Amino acid sequence: MKSDKKPGFSTISIHAGQEPDPSTGAVTVPIFATSTYVQQELGKNKGYEYARVSNPTRTRLENNLAALEGGVASRVFASGMAAITAMCTMLRAGDHIICSHNVYGGVPRLFNQILAHYGLEFSYVDTTDAGAVEKAIRRNTKFAYVETPTNPLMAVSDIAAIARVCHRRDVELVVDNTFMSPYFQRPLALGADMVVHSTTKFLNGHSDGLGGVIICTTAEQAEKLAFVQKSTGAILSPFECWLVLRGVKTLAVRMEQHDKNGRAVAAFLNQHRKVEKVYYPGLPGHAQHELAKRQMSGFGSMINLETGSLKNAKRMLAKVRICSLGESLGGVETLISHPATMTHAALGEKGRKAIGITDGLVRISVGIEDVDDILDDLDQALDNI
Ligand SMILES: Cc1ncc(COP(=O)(O)O)c(C=O)c1O
Repeated sequence: MKSDKKPGFSTISIHAGQEPDPSTGAVTVPIFATSTYVQQELGKNKGYEYARVSNPTRTRLENNLAALEGGVASRVFASGMAAITAMCTMLRAGDHIICSHNVYGGVPRLFNQILAHYGLEFSYVDTTDAGAVEKAIRRNTKFAYVETPTNPLMAVSDIAAIARVCHRRDVELVVDNTFMSPYFQRPLALGADMVVHSTTKFLNGHSDGLGGVIICTTAEQAEKLAFVQKSTGAILSPFECWLVLRGVKTLAVRMEQHDKNGRAVAAFLNQHRKVEKVYYPGLPGHAQHELAKRQMSGFGSMINLETGSLKNAKRMLAKVRICSLGESLGGVETLISHPATMTHAALGEKGRKAIGITDGLVRISVGIEDVDDILDDLDQALDNI
């Protein structure tokens, strides 16, 4: 290999920040289970003073995730919501955020029911239309917060077009890249200023820990967020950092299999007589299929299907065996859920109706089991409708 050749994605995911431990040679990053560090003398230490401020396991994960997204640094938090909260604490009362109108339900819950009480202002727009973002920009707008594809309806927004609109007006674009992971979508390369993930999902990949991250493009953002970590304290524990480091090593192979299974399940559901509609960006009938092909290098494994009614959704969900009924997504196992009563219950009936989340909608996070087993399970469950 020529020495100036940039390493590939899997090499970065396995090696960036994951150098063998200098004191023991351990190939796997140790879990530094410590709350504090002995100092050599007053004002002299080895770069670590107190674990809320920094921890070597966390530093390794932050370096790894920054490298995967192509950022200058990253900061990890106790959950995806803790990361989004941290992002908002970079602002001041009176500042305005534009948010995709169809996002994970916990985001508008945080914005409307908590942060609005502290003087932050929010507008919700259909970010599949970059012109709608432009129209919503005000004098006090600081961030545009875009989830693409969206949870749950899989609407795809044009990151490069929105970045252009935002930058003309000095607004920073933050993209939630949870559904695609850096393996299939690189928002910073398309002009975004920060990337958010719930690491709970594909980055961890094994449904065994919560976490969140913000990847930065400037040292100033990274410094502000390090200050937020130190001051507010919702940092990711060393053990959970280690779980994510373990997970990202197989991100590429998992995402390839998720994508393969996702395409097969979407095609199967799309021709199933009991299914009224399928939302998956890989299907030619998807409203932003051409953009998805351009912007993402895979379509992933998040799929929504319309069963027609709450009764039908209930009947289907009562019958699944391989697919586990539960919240969350992005793990190796297939998870199936009902957005109206689970992830998006907080929006209320009116809020859900406004963005097209019906009572008959069922969301599937297709895992990496043998795809024929997943298809058989969905088929027999749909037969119960
Ligand atoms: C797209 C997206 N962003 C953020 C979050 C919040 O992450 P967490 O559950 O880790 O707090 C979720 C949770 O489902 C999500 O789906």
